[in-house]
Amino acid sequence: MATTGKRMDYTSHLILQRTARERVKEGITVMTKGEGVRVFDQDGKSYLDLVSGVTRPVHVGYGRKEIAQAVYDQICRLPYFTPMQFSNIPAMELAEVLAEITPGRINNFTFVCDGSEAVEAAIKLAKHYHHFKGDKKRYKVISRRGAYHGVTGGALSVLGTVLPMRQIMDPVVPGTVFVESPYCFRCPLHLTYPDCDIACAKDIERIIEFEDPGQISAFIGEPIQQAFGALAPPQEYWDIVRSMCDTYGILLIIDEVICGFGRTGKWFGVEHFDIQPDIITMAKGISSGYVPLGGVGCTDEVIEPVEIFLHIHTYGNHPVSCAAALKNIEIIKRENLIINAYEMGIYFLEGLKTLESHPTVGEARGKGLWTALDLTTDKKNRAPFPLDRIMSIINRAKKKGLIIKTMGHALEFAPPLIIQKGEIDEAVKIIDECITEEERDMGL
Ligand SMILES: Cc1ncc(COP(=O)(O)O)c(C=O)c1O
Repeated sequence: MATTGKRMDYTSHLILQRTARERVKEGITVMTKGEGVRVFDQDGKSYLDLVSGVTRPVHVGYGRKEIAQAVYDQICRLPYFTPMQFSNIPAMELAEVLAEITPGRINNFTFVCDGSEAVEAAIKLAKHYHHFKGDKKRYKVISRRGAYHGVTGGALSVLGTVLPMRQIMDPVVPGTVFVESPYCFRCPLHLTYPDCDIACAKDIERIIEFEDPGQISAFIGEPIQQAFGALAPPQEYWDIVRSMCDTYGILLIIDEVICGFGRTGKWFGVEHFDIQPDIITMAKGISSGYVPLGGVGCTDEVIEPVEIFLHIHTYGNHPVSCAAALKNIEIIKRENLIINAYEMGIYFLEGLKTLESHPTVGEARGKGLWTALDLTTDKKNRAPFPLDRIMSIINRAKKKGLIIKTMGHALEFAPPLIIQKGEIDEAVKIIDECITEEERDMGL
């Protein structure tokens, strides 16, 4: 049965993902339509979507008929053929386009269905590289406490988030070594930048030596971290990590699943740091969420020794998803959405900075159209803001027609890259009101 547009109750037979039963009982909003930066629920209520579909993929905004047309055309032409021992035109074209826009020497690509699978494939590719070079003992991956890299087996094992998502699945794939995140606002090492001398990065060397450098395959990290809320490390951080990887023959995997395709005002987040990754992962903005797609890219040096990449998903290198991604990237280029993300990002952050006058707003930060307000109950000691209070702010915003989300102790924002000043003003005004109301309820 095709979807009919009829009104439905919020659960029926559908299992919602990462949604507590308690939450379901309160009632779930069913979204039915999107146009530009706005979405509409089945009662016709309109929302300004400040988080691009909440998981943040919808870079080009809603209602792009030309992506639908590209998908339709490709389905009519060739809906599917195996990624193994055969190729298809959209996947090859997409790899060609990505070779032009990805950072530095990233030149070779394979496609999967989402970000978790991209991380999975990247970790496997790193292992293949070492294996075919005869370095078969390297299996460990360094990840960071707080990191989010997805929920499949390998991705789950490098998940460092405080959300209890890994723990219930333990034991996961062994071999992940966790190091600290560069979270300057609440430094895990209790130091202050720049006097800290970037201890969070320098400390990694001690851990590499302890773990045996000859056993370490890769370091994985998001260029700007989701955890704690749109968190860019100090400029020197990635230089130090890159040079450690070089010293010990460790591959550097940069996870661009959120940052890629313009989210931070550049094509890829790593471009803010001027380092060369060995492998990158991507998803979300690659297809703006219109169809499922993820990808992995690597340098010639990484792929050159790999005689065969023993990886196969039925839907790998999928022609329809790749056709959608090609059209999506064409739109990003044609409408200069990277520049818009950069310019509107500056404007948005200026607006958010004005909210630092609130007693509970510790820091407004971000890059491009990925921003956050780190909240605190005590600006002096940066005490964490209670999660139920953050959820209350988010619920207030939703009632006023604005969709935002939480990340750590922060409110996080990642609007479609098409957003304009008027919509940003509207959003900042609502956020301001919601924080004011929450503070009043807290007696502040
Ligand atoms: C940096 C990063 N890597 C990987 C993933 C997993 O992607 P997906 O949810 O598409 O599997 C995410 C999801 O948010 C992410 O933020």
